[in-house]
Amino acid sequence: MKIPKRKFDVLVIGAGGGGLRGSLQLAQAEASVAVVSKVFPTRSHTVAAQGGMNAALANVLPDNWHWHMYDTVKGSDYLGDQDAIEYMCRAASKIVIEMEHFGVPFSRLENGKIYQRPFGGQSQNFGGDQAARTCAAADRTGHAILHSLYQQNIRAKTHFFDEFFAIDLIKDDEGFILGAVVLEIETGEPMLIEAKTTLLATGGAGQLFRTNTNAHINTGDGLAMALRAGVPLQDMEFFQFHPTGIAGKGMLISEAARGEGGYLVNKDGERFMERYAPHAKDLASRDVVSRSISIEVLEGRGCGPSGDYVHLKLDHLKREVLDKKLPAICESIRTFLGVEPATDLIPVYPTAHYTMGGIPTNRHGQVVVPVSTGEEPIPGLYAVGECACVSVHGANRLGGNSLLDIVVFGRAAGNDIVNFLQENRYHRPMSEESVESALGRLARWDQKGKGEPVDTIRRELQAVMEKYCGVFRNEDILSEGLGKVLEIEQRMSQVRLQDHSRIFNTARIEAMELENLIDIAVATVTSALARKESRGAHSRTDYPDRDDQNWLKHTLYYKDTRRLDYKPVKLKPITVESFPPKERVY
Ligand code: FUM
Repeated sequence: MKIPKRKFDVLVIGAGGGGLRGSLQLAQAEASVAVVSKVFPTRSHTVAAQGGMNAALANVLPDNWHWHMYDTVKGSDYLGDQDAIEYMCRAASKIVIEMEHFGVPFSRLENGKIYQRPFGGQSQNFGGDQAARTCAAADRTGHAILHSLYQQNIRAKTHFFDEFFAIDLIKDDEGFILGAVVLEIETGEPMLIEAKTTLLATGGAGQLFRTNTNAHINTGDGLAMALRAGVPLQDMEFFQFHPTGIAGKGMLISEAARGEGGYLVNKDGERFMERYAPHAKDLASRDVVSRSISIEVLEGRGCGPSGDYVHLKLDHLKREVLDKKLPAICESIRTFLGVEPATDLIPVYPTAHYTMGGIPTNRHGQVVVPVSTGEEPIPGLYAVGECACVSVHGANRLGGNSLLDIVVFGRAAGNDIVNFLQENRYHRPMSEESVESALGRLARWDQKGKGEPVDTIRRELQAVMEKYCGVFRNEDILSEGLGKVLEIEQRMSQVRLQDHSRIFNTARIEAMELENLIDIAVATVTSALARKESRGAHSRTDYPDRDDQNWLKHTLYYKDTRRLDYKPVKLKPITVESFPPKERVY
């Protein structure tokens, strides 16, 4: 089938902060850049990031990038790659100032400097007193960053394909990635975008879980496209549960609420985090706080008629703090819970928040695969942001490091692609065959007949993931969960659409998103079942301890054979001494 074709130097898939920071770097270097996004760019999920972006500016308390690096390595439960972590933490201050110059309206201190708030897992002096490292635009930091980056891209003449869904990557026999087949949602027509390089920046897969903080669009499309192109996914067993989702609903109540002085209490009114993390208390790392909340509930100290949540207490904070520093959060609490944060306790429970695993990359954003001599980039393929695993978050991400990750590595990938383009000046020949195979994925949804509806299966998948791959796991639960996910995968071949129209057929998009989610669910549960230790967000009740001797390594999951492989953690930073693994206490 002949389809329309467009040619660009670079195709960026995804218009959140990572994609837009990459495309901006490229457009400013005068590369021709196409950004494909399934939603209007400023609706990308970066818009929902609340609390802020970490950088050791030392505007409020003493700080430096090396302390930030230590906290990030410790937060990652020593699974993070220390070269990438050093790179990110060193770059952070410069990057925040650059974002300010792009127009991000950061909140201000009395002295006019950028406002910084304390966040979880932050310390001064390598594990000492609490630091205040998170640069914030009230509680709408992601919104401010995304809008500024979009405006800068418009100025730099980035070409946007708004509301186009990426179906699959195109790859030649030598393994080069040559672009992607995309679908224009409005017309339902496919199009081929040929590119010398493709940058995946499609965000995470929070829609794997029933209760989550993520947008409906976060279906891991880039991760699944990479899997289908033969790329393994790294460390998928590590999924972050944010401690404070609105109970039963999942919407995010930012860690900023605890950074500004809020704290958690159980049904007896006890500030229970003092027991679990005597030093950091409510600002321990997220994995620790989420587990503590779950234990309170499991041991019968939960609140409410079913005892299935705890309370976040903000009613002791001054009105001014709530109105000026947490306005959007207060609004969400009023809207979704009907309670008043200034006077009432707020029901919260851990909620699926962030995909810490993803497409393996180096710190230049190149997608890398293992070879006998180490690892090697896939020519023409880059990935940044939540879909990538660089890996700066390891087994547990610190709050405020994801906005930093997307702009630091979006920029780094943009720079590396500029070099790649100098050495790869022409488009490579493309075979019809690879295009046909991507189109086959679309054609499958033209099959007629009766079958199960997409949304029944999506809901079932989310319920299974929540029940069998949540905060606490063990062999029996995960094995049962894997069986259920594989059964759902089987049933998918029987699913049929009833609507075969072309114009704005969102049912077709949702069907392909569900295929993506299922691939990622299999990767996640398979990786979780294999890792027989507890580390960061992966808590195995049957293997409660961290096991550095056997498991200080990254997992790689391959779709074709469903096999797992492993590769070493990069413990060697770029210029400083390594932080060797030690017991992690908060
Ligand atoms: O709690 C929050 O504001 C979320 C921030 C983050 O995930 O980095």
